[in-house]
Amino acid sequence: MKTQVAIIGAGPSGLLLGQLLHKRGIKNIILERVTPDYVLSRIRAGILEQGFADLMREAGVGARMDSDGEVHDGVEIVVNGRRERIDLKGLTGGDTVIVYGQTELTRDLMDARVDSGQTTHYEVSNAQPHGMLEEQPYVTYEKDGKSYKLECDYIAGCDGFHGVSRKSIPEDCITEYEQLYPGGWLGLLSDTPPVNPELVYVRHARGFALCSLRSQTRSRYYIQVNKDDKVEDWSDDRFWAELKRRLPDDLAEKLVTGPSLEKSIAPMRSFVAEPMQYGRLFLLGDAAHIVPPTGAKGLNTAASDVYTLYTILTKVYGEGKTELVEKYSEICLRRIWNGERFSWWMSNMLHTFEETSDFEDKMYTSEIDYYLSSEAGKRVIAEQYVGLPFEEIK
Ligand code: APR
Ligand code: PHB
Repeated sequence: MKTQVAIIGAGPSGLLLGQLLHKRGIKNIILERVTPDYVLSRIRAGILEQGFADLMREAGVGARMDSDGEVHDGVEIVVNGRRERIDLKGLTGGDTVIVYGQTELTRDLMDARVDSGQTTHYEVSNAQPHGMLEEQPYVTYEKDGKSYKLECDYIAGCDGFHGVSRKSIPEDCITEYEQLYPGGWLGLLSDTPPVNPELVYVRHARGFALCSLRSQTRSRYYIQVNKDDKVEDWSDDRFWAELKRRLPDDLAEKLVTGPSLEKSIAPMRSFVAEPMQYGRLFLLGDAAHIVPPTGAKGLNTAASDVYTLYTILTKVYGEGKTELVEKYSEICLRRIWNGERFSWWMSNMLHTFEETSDFEDKMYTSEIDYYLSSEAGKRVIAEQYVGLPFEEIK
């Protein structure tokens, strides 16, 4: 079997890349370990930067996002009871974000891939990149008890943090940077009206909280918990009571509670692998980097990599600009490290960790107070939150 680009992983990175390449007539096949339903069962964030939304539209899968997604002009930050709104639109000259769940955009991408008749092999096992430094790399894999070899020009490792692609790069050819945070995010999804029309990030002595949403009838809430907490430790009632303790009184009074549709704890981690390529193997999204969810950058940094590889391969196949291939990692990392820093900064500004000294706590509180007290400070937060423009690739 042969294609031009072999994509490992059918999460948002792999599916969006596949759809964009298809639009440019670049053949690709996706190899995915689990079933489509399993991919869709993962509840993740849902804040799309302008760049991500534009890529979805360019891929021809932006219709439901534009009709069902909510454009948000601002977000709120509450620090020890003081509420400040960040006017994203006003402070960035018109940029906004779209609230649209990752599950929905993944469903849109899956449907578009089926409609376009592209090949996706689900439930494959032992996918393994080979010949990455050769002219003709390939991927071996198994499905239904048979072994296969997929020959290709390039391999896109879109297989997430626990995937095979990053681990296929020799240890002496890759450097990993990591920071673990002593806390986790307990998230709850409920069919209840959002407590506030815009997202509310809360710094509180008891811990971080976030009020988010999926629609006007479906809410997504988070509270910071200890890194060793188990979701079984948190009944719905205990979750709602703790969330109310961390919200400003007027929001706590308005909060509509209800049964959880989903409840899970996500770890807080910063991680980057450099370089994000090895010969003709490229790493995209969670395969190359992880951010703590505070800055809503997980999906958006993945989209940044997809934009870069899609643009490079379009120029390679369309204009013969093969020299761009070696630029992939360098271009990606400039934007990735910016997203990592913002997510790390937001996490330290808005979380109180047991390990944080009283002095450090005062430093973080003073810093976020300064940013929220000045237009310049709010503009910095706004520019980072809506996302910096993608780098032009010539
Ligand atoms: N072979 C084939 N598929 C694999 C393998 C493998 N060895 N290992 C992992 N996969 C699949 C997973 O089953 C998953 O569907 O690769 C996909 C990776 O998807 P994600 O982990 O969602 O990563 P990505 O597509 O980069 O999307 C990043 O998803 O997890 C969120 O917070 C994250 O918003 C971010 C976004
Ligand atoms: C979400 O809606 O799941 C969400 C929103 C903003 C974040 C993280 C998660 O920063």
